[in-house]
Amino acid sequence: MCGIVGYVGEQNATSILLTGLKKLEYRGYDSAGIALYDGEKITLDKTVGKLSKLEELVSNNRPEGNIGLGHTRWATHGKPSTPNSHPHSCCGGDFVVVHNGIIENYANLKAELKEKGHQFSSETDTEVIPHLIDEYYEGNLKAAVRKTVAKLKGAYALGVLSLQEPDKLIAVRQDSPLIIGLNGSENFIASDIPAVLEHTDKVYILDDGEMAEITANQVDIFNVDNGESIKKDIFEVDWDPGMAEKSGFDHFMLKEIHEQPETIRKSIAGRLNKTDIEFDEVSLSKEEIEAYNRIYVVACGTAYHSGLVAKYVIEDLAEIPVEVDVASEFRYRNPLIDDNTLVIVVSQSGETADTLAALREAKNNGARALAVVNTVGSTIAREADDVIYIHAGPEIAVASTKAYIGMLTCFYMLAIYLARQQNKLSDETSAKLIKALKNLPEQVAKIIKEDSDKIEQLAKNYAGEEDAFFIGRKVDYSVALEGSLKLKEISYIHSEAYPAGELKHGTLALIEEGIPVIALATQTSVLDKTLSNVKEVKARGGVVTGVVFAGQEEIDSFDYQIEVPKTEDILSSILTVVPLQLLSYYIAVERGCDVDQPRNLAKSVTVE
Ligand code: F6R
Repeated sequence: MCGIVGYVGEQNATSILLTGLKKLEYRGYDSAGIALYDGEKITLDKTVGKLSKLEELVSNNRPEGNIGLGHTRWATHGKPSTPNSHPHSCCGGDFVVVHNGIIENYANLKAELKEKGHQFSSETDTEVIPHLIDEYYEGNLKAAVRKTVAKLKGAYALGVLSLQEPDKLIAVRQDSPLIIGLNGSENFIASDIPAVLEHTDKVYILDDGEMAEITANQVDIFNVDNGESIKKDIFEVDWDPGMAEKSGFDHFMLKEIHEQPETIRKSIAGRLNKTDIEFDEVSLSKEEIEAYNRIYVVACGTAYHSGLVAKYVIEDLAEIPVEVDVASEFRYRNPLIDDNTLVIVVSQSGETADTLAALREAKNNGARALAVVNTVGSTIAREADDVIYIHAGPEIAVASTKAYIGMLTCFYMLAIYLARQQNKLSDETSAKLIKALKNLPEQVAKIIKEDSDKIEQLAKNYAGEEDAFFIGRKVDYSVALEGSLKLKEISYIHSEAYPAGELKHGTLALIEEGIPVIALATQTSVLDKTLSNVKEVKARGGVVTGVVFAGQEEIDSFDYQIEVPKTEDILSSILTVVPLQLLSYYIAVERGCDVDQPRNLAKSVTVE
């Protein structure tokens, strides 16, 4: 986590660093800082709190200079505090570092450096890095940084600025993302593309074990181990800068909910014909697919929830057994993987450390790895054998919405694809599902347009509650889990999701007068059973909001009813999640929560 930016060019770096950090604030927002070289000295400005605090801090005494570094932090080692904020420097202040990642052996390194007389001013793991550079510097910054990183164990994306060679930045990447933006007489470093998008669409994406020496006019890339020069291709980004702006919405989350029809359109574009799915990017042969006896879907959080939907759909249509694993568990258990196993990793950012580690583990064990990813050029996308891109564009709000819908869309297409390759889906059924997929963008748009006001009203009723429950069966249960996560992460209401039939095995004890229960009830084959469970809840005083298909008979068990347009039962997740996203959003707004940047969280979790 954490976001880093760097600038070297002809303009005043302060405002460029601050706007870059603003775009990276989703990665961490408990403290922030910048370092600027003004022609004589390096000034550090840093503070605990959000970026706005840093902006206030520098507003009266804005340092001037054409080269600098910035950082927005999500604390790992050391609580959020001004001394623990980045940038960090060595004792004399000659070397300044911003870091995203974790240095696992920092305690030993710190002890060794202290013995040599270095004095530390923070509790962070990062601070060992500028002290080490100071220790190794003998007139060549690149050489000192190489010696330093040779001592580090862990994950790091680094930006280094030095009083000794103040015309350049050094960037290093190992297991944490880092890109370099190129714009003629100015160059940038950043944790993610949106930070440089308003300046350039041309970037280098550093790989692990690579470092760059960056001046205003030149970028040289090297292998960290042997120092040899590396020639890299420039990556041209096809996002427009407006995609990373709020465009008139109060919050990124609301904007991203509204973008969901477009996300589905982009995900299906060019991939559907009348009866089949065309995945040019997937190179699985018919024989390979037929040979798969197991699929693992591995991911974290919301992406994991998309995998739970994938299980229902792939097992139902393609008849291949699917196990869904939380990535941080998958890599530490002993999953049974062989040549006939397909591992699908799912990630919006493509940088989540747990998911990346699971991908590597799966590949080391001989599995074929397919990634469903949003961020083009991300590490997971580059390391997987095949990639299906979601095409949701940049997602900025910490709470994932449009990426989830994009993941679901890709999984529906993948399930049909796998089924058709094995002749397990008739032309007729496939055509029906594909037709229904094509209708989804309009249907999602309809929910947003017609139901937002009603859901906003409902949110007012729920905003004072401290507990909530979500229930459903089949695909509805997977969506219940996602609705529950959305609610707790942005509104801080305690929330749990259960298969509707499971409540009576214990959790029903928690249902009492006035407890809100959101019941998803779209699955025709189990509708009666779900409604019986709703009655059990009502009998204990629960206040039930039902999410049902339009046209379904008015159900008297519900206190409130939200209708989504009718689609095939199996595709319902794409529609039912939308009211749940809106409900969480409006409840969080009503409670005065920071919707886009909920407490304790960060968007891209690049630590284990
Ligand atoms: C919740 C949320 C997280 C992410 C999770 C995985 O709204 O966004 O649960 O889904 O951290 O992130 P990615 O998809 O980037 O791997």
